[in-house]
Amino acid sequence: MTISSQLEAKLRAASGHADARVQPATDTRFGDYQTNIAMILAKQQRANPRQLAQEIIDKLDTAEMCEPPEIAGAGFINFRLKPMWLAERFAVLAADEKLGISAPVRPKKYVIDFSSPNVAKPMHVGHIRSTILGDALARIAAFIGHTVVRDNHIGDWGTQFGMLLHGWKNELNHAALEADPLGEMERLYKLVSARCKEDPATLDAVHHELVELQGGNEENLVLWREMQRLSQAQFDVIYSRLGISFDVTLGESFYNQWLWKVVDELVARGIARESEGALCVFSDGSVPEKEDPFLISRDGQWVDMPALVQKADGAANYTTTDLATLAYRLREFAPDEILYVTDGRQQHHFRQLFAIFRRWHPEVSARLAHVWFGSILGDDGKPFKTRSGETIKLAGLLDEAEERAFAIVSEKNPALPEAERREIARVIGLGAVKYADLLPNRQSDYVFSWDKMLALQGNTAPYLQNAYVRIRSIFRKAVEAGINSQSSTIILSEPAELVLAKKLFQFGEVLPQVLDDCRPNLLCNYLYELASTFHSFFEACHVLKADEASRASRLTLCEVTARTLQRGLGLLGIEVPERM
Ligand code: ARG
Repeated sequence: MTISSQLEAKLRAASGHADARVQPATDTRFGDYQTNIAMILAKQQRANPRQLAQEIIDKLDTAEMCEPPEIAGAGFINFRLKPMWLAERFAVLAADEKLGISAPVRPKKYVIDFSSPNVAKPMHVGHIRSTILGDALARIAAFIGHTVVRDNHIGDWGTQFGMLLHGWKNELNHAALEADPLGEMERLYKLVSARCKEDPATLDAVHHELVELQGGNEENLVLWREMQRLSQAQFDVIYSRLGISFDVTLGESFYNQWLWKVVDELVARGIARESEGALCVFSDGSVPEKEDPFLISRDGQWVDMPALVQKADGAANYTTTDLATLAYRLREFAPDEILYVTDGRQQHHFRQLFAIFRRWHPEVSARLAHVWFGSILGDDGKPFKTRSGETIKLAGLLDEAEERAFAIVSEKNPALPEAERREIARVIGLGAVKYADLLPNRQSDYVFSWDKMLALQGNTAPYLQNAYVRIRSIFRKAVEAGINSQSSTIILSEPAELVLAKKLFQFGEVLPQVLDDCRPNLLCNYLYELASTFHSFFEACHVLKADEASRASRLTLCEVTARTLQRGLGLLGIEVPERM
């Protein structure tokens, strides 16, 4: 049990309020944790908050863990933990593999839809955020003790295939396909799409190829399958490089078998109706206009903004596929939550999707969440592109990260064998890219900067990896000096020791919050604070040169710090080197 949940349990008992919460104190001069429960209750009961706070304190049974609680300001109650109690608890934390994370009372099942690139298009820098964010959330949920289904919803049935098939049949360069399949497919796509704009005959031919494919033309299906195979092979190279895996990889096409059933049911239940030849879902007026995803405000008027589930030409679309996918996931996995990790431009799609689904299946209680993110920008504040205006491809970006890290490592450690420098550079380079992506609030855009992400100072992956490496080197020195670093009685007498111990206890409090809000940036910030707290501790307190009892206790603090950094980074999908 975390410290905050222990305090909350005691507060619940004393206040009779089921939802009593404590927060880590903002100013540690006044204590370690704080609650505003007296103020909440006072408002409800029209009582004096400070007096109510005193009544709660009189009933509180915290003598063992805290100094006498104090009332502050308008009625806050402040708690300061007793060093002796913390020291005892710290021994328990140090022995805990899960670093203070207790199993959830009711473990949940999550389906996390992430990465989900489109076939025959190279994975570009926009897919990196979904891939990295989704992977981090999946790792965190699993570590906390939930069940996770990692689901890669490959875009394999878009209108791009009309162009690709036409290009493949008429313009394919076999040697180029051999050398760089996705590059060649991208070339074909661009070539044909440019031609479509000028030449109506090409547009017709493209449309014909698409209709043939959708109608099950065998030749087209064979080519389409080949495109899948080549794309998936290249996606897999990137995934293995990033250390990312999936439990389920199903393309949009897999759900084609249920599309007509979805449309029929929506029509039969009056959820979708005909409009201008298409089948559409309109507002049902069940929510205020401002929140209604089927309305849009134009010149101060609310006008319809229906969702199409079947286009006028009879084809289903992205929404129909997502409805069929949702139904399948609920049948197949019975999840408590489904998280969709995509960029912010799809917000409206998901608001409509969830609203249609709720009308279609009101009995389903699973939580559906769109975990959206902003864009990656270049120095100029515009979407991150190459100099010539092309989108940046993921593989090249990762190569560059490793190269740049290699230059830094080689400068710092010229004596290390090259193979070792390469391996360290891989861990640092990939770590830097992932961390730079996870650190900003996910809903804001961020400016991509090599110098910033690879810096050894500041809130970066290399800084945290370096903190880990420094602790590991303390243990190497201990071994060389013949010092036994078995954990022992914990002594928390110096202020810096106490501050570090308290910080380490917070890991178990931060992590569930990260998952609840789908905000790995909270974990990044926690790890950064932990590393800084550790540095202050290390400056203030001798470790190897301390007397025997303090030394053993401080080595335990070091060891738990290293393990928390390693685990925390690991949950973000970031490895640590043993030296750097
Ligand atoms: N393939 C889509 C894209 O690249 C993302 C799919 C997200 N998942 C979903 N179920 N719609 O934009």
